[in-house]
Amino acid sequence: MAVAMLVLGGTGFAGRALVEEGLSRGWEVSALNRGLSGSPGPRATHVAGDRLDPATLAPLRTREWELVVDTWSGAPTAVRDSVRALVDRAARYIFISSGSVYAPPPPLGVTELSPTVEASPDLRTGEYSELKRGAEMAVLEAFGDRALIARAGLILGPHENVGRLPWWLTRLAAGGEILAPGPPQLELQYVDVRDLARFVLDASVDGHSGPFNVVSRRGHATMESLLDACLTVAGRDDAQLTWVAPDFVVDSGIEPWTELPIWLPPDHEYAGMHAANVEPAHAAGLSCRPVSETVADTWAWMSRLDGPPPLRGDLPRPGLDPVREREVLAAWHAQSR
Ligand SMILES: NC(=O)c1ccc[n+]([C@@H]2O[C@H](COP(=O)([O-])OP(=O)(O)OC[C@H]3O[C@@H](n4cnc5c(N)ncnc54)[C@H](OP(=O)(O)O)[C@@H]3O)[C@@H](O)[C@H]2O)c1
Repeated sequence: MAVAMLVLGGTGFAGRALVEEGLSRGWEVSALNRGLSGSPGPRATHVAGDRLDPATLAPLRTREWELVVDTWSGAPTAVRDSVRALVDRAARYIFISSGSVYAPPPPLGVTELSPTVEASPDLRTGEYSELKRGAEMAVLEAFGDRALIARAGLILGPHENVGRLPWWLTRLAAGGEILAPGPPQLELQYVDVRDLARFVLDASVDGHSGPFNVVSRRGHATMESLLDACLTVAGRDDAQLTWVAPDFVVDSGIEPWTELPIWLPPDHEYAGMHAANVEPAHAAGLSCRPVSETVADTWAWMSRLDGPPPLRGDLPRPGLDPVREREVLAAWHAQSR
């Protein structure tokens, strides 16, 4: 009999990939959401519900589920209400958490045992890190060793709604001289959203539980291999990368990570975000496709859209103003002469 999987969410980025991955296995997939952000597609069952109104979760209790996957990033109370509704109806619960739960700044080589931020499942407001940790606690309290917590780092791939890789692709497609923040060999960690989905479903079915850092091994891609892959698929003929030293970029006042998405200078306080220990996830089966595939598939998805890629409304829009980019490049050339 097909596995019955419930995705709480399912129409944005990670949830959408989870729905697709479940369907590709021939599983019976349902997705609970308000129906405001799109549809989980004709092959999945849509369950209308608002997680901020626990009464609407009642239909979930009319049957049993082998797997529940939860992508929530708001108040942990919503997750607390969902696990209470599902604890005697679902065999296993997967929560898509975040590396942000580690006490800041994350140390180089952060492991699943590193200290996390203070939080509570009863939080109604708080920092993103506290909300994600509070939600983890709610899931662990209810499901114990039937819960898998995926502490994803940077997630990239088709349908990305944060705008990081889409910004780089759009920038290379615009052509001209492009500020490439160095060093080229800067090691990156991220996970393709489809690899994340495959890993959590496989690992859960295999009986793994507890927290896992879920990103590629350090150096799976570098800033250079990422931007070269973008250049290959999207770069206009006159697109040309100019590598600028990290100190010069920072001294110019450019914000790492937000103005130049994905990039953090090597000595940045948060450099640990590209340096997590991911051996437990890899030992449990995580496999990461090449960066060229993630980039090409993201560009293919963007090319099929009628307009710009969708962006979550609750996050700042990433990217560097073109005038600022030209000014910093001019200053870089002037001092290099
Ligand atoms: N992007 C990254 O680099 C990154 C890194 C680490 C961790 N993460 C985590 O990954 C997760 C990604 O989530 P996603 O947005 O891609 O998930 P998703 O499941 O694809 O999309 C969010 C879903 O939540 C539903 N939703 C929103 N408000 C709701 C409500 N009140 N009641 C019921 N459903 C509601 C939305 O549908 P409706 O609006 O139609 O209700 C939508 O289906 C986040 O939790 C984030 O913390 C992301």
